Amino acid sequence: MSNQTGNVQHTLPPLPYADNALEPVISANTLSFHYGKHHKAYVDNLNKLIAGTELADMSLEQIIAATAGKTDKAGIFNNAAQVWNHTFYWNSLSPKGGGEPPSSLKQKIESSFGGLDACKKELATAATTQFGSGWAWLVKDGDSLKVIKTSNADLPLIKGLKPLLTIDVWEHAYYLDYQNRRPDYVNAVLDKLINWGFAADNYA
Ligand code: FE2
Repeated sequence: MSNQTGNVQHTLPPLPYADNALEPVISANTLSFHYGKHHKAYVDNLNKLIAGTELADMSLEQIIAATAGKTDKAGIFNNAAQVWNHTFYWNSLSPKGGGEPPSSLKQKIESSFGGLDACKKELATAATTQFGSGWAWLVKDGDSLKVIKTSNADLPLIKGLKPLLTIDVWEHAYYLDYQNRRPDYVNAVLDKLINWGFAADNYA
């Protein structure tokens, strides 16, 4: 979408499911605040911050690449990366998630981690030990898979890694439903919502 000056207007992508579709693991209340307030605010802030600048005509990925590591552009990077991270997070979850990955991805998980349980355990450890706000990720690193965690808005794209799926561990992702019990949120997401099909599509 463009505004009157022809610049790109970043938009809030529609959620891939209804806001109560992830219950009981993630409540409609959490989803409505997380998507409708937090994610929307990152989009709105980004559009305000880039208006009239050389970043105004760039794609989201181009803005992230152009501002990463630049302290004078930290506000723009943080909002752009959080727009990208949240869209990726919604797609990393599914009402029909959990269970077994597609066989192609399952083979990669077995060769990289030794098995699905070990992969889930690494994801859970990364998600629960990330100090403060951030993200846990399954990524493709060359021919193998690995788990990483990032702080605040940081993301694998700027580290030369291809993200396959993510779990948001900012408090706004779970506090209404789980209060301080981040491990309960993480384990429920991994068991019931994680979208292995999305990860397999991203690997291909
Ligand atoms: Fe979030």
